[in-house]
Amino acid sequence: MSDDVLTMAQEAELLSRLPNITVVELEKLVERFHNAYWNESKTLISDITYDQLFERLQALNPQAAILGVLGEAYVGQAGDRVDHAYPMLSLDKVYGASALEEGLIKIGAKDWTITPKIDGLALSIRYDAQGKFKVAATRGRGTHGENVSANVLNIRTIPKSLENVVEPIEVRGEVFMTLSRFEEGYSKEFQNPRNLASGALKQKDPKRSRKYELSFFAYDLLGPMLKSEAEKQDLLQSFGFQLPPFHEAKTPKEVVNAVLAMERERASWDYETDGIVVKVADCERQRSLGETAHHPRYALAYKFQGEAAITSLKSVSWSVGRTGVITPVAEVEPVFVSGASVSRASLHHWGMFQALQLSEGARVEIVRRGGVIPHLERVLNEASNKAEATPQTKPLLQSPERCPCCGSSTRVVNDFLYCVAPNQCPDVIAGQIQYFLKVMELQGLGEVHIRTLLKHNLITNRSSLFHLDPSELCDGPRMGEKLAAKIVSELQSRRAYPLAQVIAAMGLEGVGLQTARLLVQRFADVEGIYQANREQILEIHGIGDIVADSIIQGFEMISDELSEILKYIIVTSPSMSSNDGPLANKSFVFTGKMSLMDRKHAQKRVREQGAQTPSSVTKDLDYLIYGEADTFEKISKSTKYRKALKLQESDDCALAILSESEFKSLLDSFSER
Ligand code: IVH
Repeated sequence: MSDDVLTMAQEAELLSRLPNITVVELEKLVERFHNAYWNESKTLISDITYDQLFERLQALNPQAAILGVLGEAYVGQAGDRVDHAYPMLSLDKVYGASALEEGLIKIGAKDWTITPKIDGLALSIRYDAQGKFKVAATRGRGTHGENVSANVLNIRTIPKSLENVVEPIEVRGEVFMTLSRFEEGYSKEFQNPRNLASGALKQKDPKRSRKYELSFFAYDLLGPMLKSEAEKQDLLQSFGFQLPPFHEAKTPKEVVNAVLAMERERASWDYETDGIVVKVADCERQRSLGETAHHPRYALAYKFQGEAAITSLKSVSWSVGRTGVITPVAEVEPVFVSGASVSRASLHHWGMFQALQLSEGARVEIVRRGGVIPHLERVLNEASNKAEATPQTKPLLQSPERCPCCGSSTRVVNDFLYCVAPNQCPDVIAGQIQYFLKVMELQGLGEVHIRTLLKHNLITNRSSLFHLDPSELCDGPRMGEKLAAKIVSELQSRRAYPLAQVIAAMGLEGVGLQTARLLVQRFADVEGIYQANREQILEIHGIGDIVADSIIQGFEMISDELSEILKYIIVTSPSMSSNDGPLANKSFVFTGKMSLMDRKHAQKRVREQGAQTPSSVTKDLDYLIYGEADTFEKISKSTKYRKALKLQESDDCALAILSESEFKSLLDSFSER
């Protein structure tokens, strides 16, 4: 049989013969086009004609061997849960060359490997002991992901079988869309290739998924006990996988140079990267270093910092947050960084301010980390750059001895500067109130109103919100009688809350909704938590030293205010609340138009099973469900969906994104229990 691309006339002729083609010939045709496509990367026939041949064969002989290679019966159903044989972890991150060198010295090894960190989606592909493709899954929650086999089989550069294999093998790597592919077809419509690749990988219809022409780079191989990363690379390559560029180095200094050289190459790559991965090269040393629950101890991700710009420092202002921490912010001459004008940049904390030794007019470098928040990274001194050097004329700026808001004295704990009287500091109280209202999902009172009320002593803390009179509120700016009445009636309507939500709203450091739930589960009520000692708190899996201290000290401080607040709300009893039911402690947000049931109904169903339905996507969220009445192109533009995707990248977020039908099977599986 010839290997030529079929002309349009030949395709038309083939289609006209279709009703009369024998099963044997049909099988041969499908096999030939399939093999050319998969094994030789040749497209001999249009997708439409191929699909018709395929479907005809399916109708005439569903048992045909070639169908088995691609069919659902073989690879499982899209979206099904796949338990990972080994957890899929994150990487520990470092910013900047010196942090990288320091990190590598701490790890300690004689050989290192250096590869780009591809900004795509992690994928695990398992092959059986004969080298036959078994299943492909997303990283999902690390312990288990989603079956995406049918779509992965449509990624050309992923081998469908491995040769010379004697044991089961798992290949891990990154699925992505090349920049050229993105720019050629999608850059006008979609924000970035990663979001699009994610949607395409989870697409229900494999044929549609194929059109996106996703790519895959392998970076790990599990199963055979190999000696080094280089051996893994060789084996992966011999199987036919594509690999990202790969360098080796001996010492931390050499690694840093190789990383910086690689960073310069970055612009020439046809894919997006967000850093460089450095791993210990020797597998035995990797095994002895081991892993935490989060990340392997033998690897680091050096993250790119985004564009940098140089400007001059005007002054440093200090702002007081809701925890009483006084944070320095650099006020700089406006400068463009990563496409936006920046006039204020974070200095992180007091320790950073001290270390930088700033003076007015200093030449400083501003970087938008991860492309978003501007940070003041360093002061240019004579050694680093003569032309841009800071003239050493002005005296060094000093940190405040008194709280810039309330004038109380300050004290330093570790790298942080604190106001010593947070209970009386208006900035702290305003911050606490704003946070409280947000977590309690009480809307309407903005920062301006809160500050006015505080100024006029109409409120003094969070609990005093519940005594507000509408007439007091409507004296404030941007506030009419009706709005004031509405806000006050909502505040005072004795709404029902799970206790964990109220505790989280009190804003103790490190005590978010998740930790608050753990506390309520273990100690039942506020009295129980208040009585608990440090050891008992530390027994809770998921709470460490720092948070335990914050709980002990924090509860001491908030106990009166919390008791007062509890008089004005109804605490849902554990049997009514999220501590019960099969979806206990889970939270769901819905986006997009739903087709199987309406959104209100879906929310009601999950609440009945003990789950919560907050209004927005945050890092504590468990599930984002997208409706399937909309096209996935539309969904992937939804703000909630995009935020959820972004959050999935972060280490402490276990958010799962499910389609409506996956959600339905999740619900059904719970109702059967
Ligand atoms: S090594 C523990 N190499 O980065 C995982 N990961 O934060 C060890 N990633 O989701 C992975 N490019 O999918 C490694 N060249 C590369 C990578 C890479 C991208 C992703 C990986 C994971 C994330 C870890």
